[in-house]
Amino acid sequence: EKGTYPHYMLKEIDEQPFVTRRIIQKYQDEHGGLTIDQAIINEVLNADRLYIVACGTSYHAGLVGKQLIESWAKIPVEVHIASEFSYNMPLLSEKPLFLFISQSGETADSRAVLVQTNKLGHKAITITNVPGSTLSREADYTLLLHAGPEIAVASTKAYTAQIAVLAILAATAAKAKGLELDFDLTKELAIVANVMEMLCDAKEEMENIARDYLTLTRNCFFIGRAVDYYVCLEGALKLKEISYIQAEGFAGGELKHGTIALIEDGTPVIALATQEHVNLSIRGNVKEVVARGANPCVISMRGLEGDGDRFVIPAVHPDLTSLVSVVPLQLIAYYAALHRGCDVDKPRNLAKSVTVE
Ligand code: M6R
Repeated sequence: EKGTYPHYMLKEIDEQPFVTRRIIQKYQDEHGGLTIDQAIINEVLNADRLYIVACGTSYHAGLVGKQLIESWAKIPVEVHIASEFSYNMPLLSEKPLFLFISQSGETADSRAVLVQTNKLGHKAITITNVPGSTLSREADYTLLLHAGPEIAVASTKAYTAQIAVLAILAATAAKAKGLELDFDLTKELAIVANVMEMLCDAKEEMENIARDYLTLTRNCFFIGRAVDYYVCLEGALKLKEISYIQAEGFAGGELKHGTIALIEDGTPVIALATQEHVNLSIRGNVKEVVARGANPCVISMRGLEGDGDRFVIPAVHPDLTSLVSVVPLQLIAYYAALHRGCDVDKPRNLAKSVTVE
């Protein structure tokens, strides 16, 4: 039920702090740490490479998951779009382990890959919000998102729940390999939940950004580097699917290889700057587009902010920024769609779960 909310999407965005806290509870061990089933961790340790397979927003969460698993647990990960993997299967490693990410657990493109990998005799884990779903039943193991039903076609709380669960998986695998992290994930995720709450309270600022930048535009670019690039892909998908504004996410450094030709007077460019090691370079990219007339909207992280930034996100652990930086982008997409008179919860041409290949 959407209660007093005008749309499911807004309700589901607001539920993210609560869902993050519920995930902390559900994955807690007896010592207050976070953990994943030993049988699943054994499979992860036994594999020489993980293959993440997903579509849409779940694919974007997979990109962030790859970074967490590789940097914390030092296990190589590939991320694949399910519909491509089916017809263009990459050369697999000797001991692959498959990780299917699907909010609904019913996506036909992902299931088609699972049918193939099952035939090949490879083990699979499904990360899903729906217990008993097809992908959950047909995989060897399931990790649940505990996000509660997601009704709006545009996925929001499932994305952050997927990243939180992938973070717990990465941290548990790291620990099992004797690679102790130098921070307490439980504590850092609790901080994330608090910051999400503050961002959900910043609706007016996000509505103003949507009004100032997106009311009349035909297109919009999102730029970022490192993990911010992955979040930009997700921000662009949110905006295009519900507001019908043509939106693209780009790696900052890639602009000059072609896309910068599209920048005209007034083109909105939303830039994320949450990563210290690329802060200077992304700000350089903002200058490049401004020199071509772009209307920049920089969203940065506290401690990395610069003059003229439109919004500053309270600081979280640098590896967990995707969990919070996506929230302003979800809200901006929501208000852009609202102002343009679009049907936020049921955008044209789209279905909540895509059960055809
Ligand atoms: O249920 P799934 O996670 O497998 O769905 C995958 C995509 O269809 C889904 O994320 C889609 O991209 C959303 N509409 C994005 O908001």
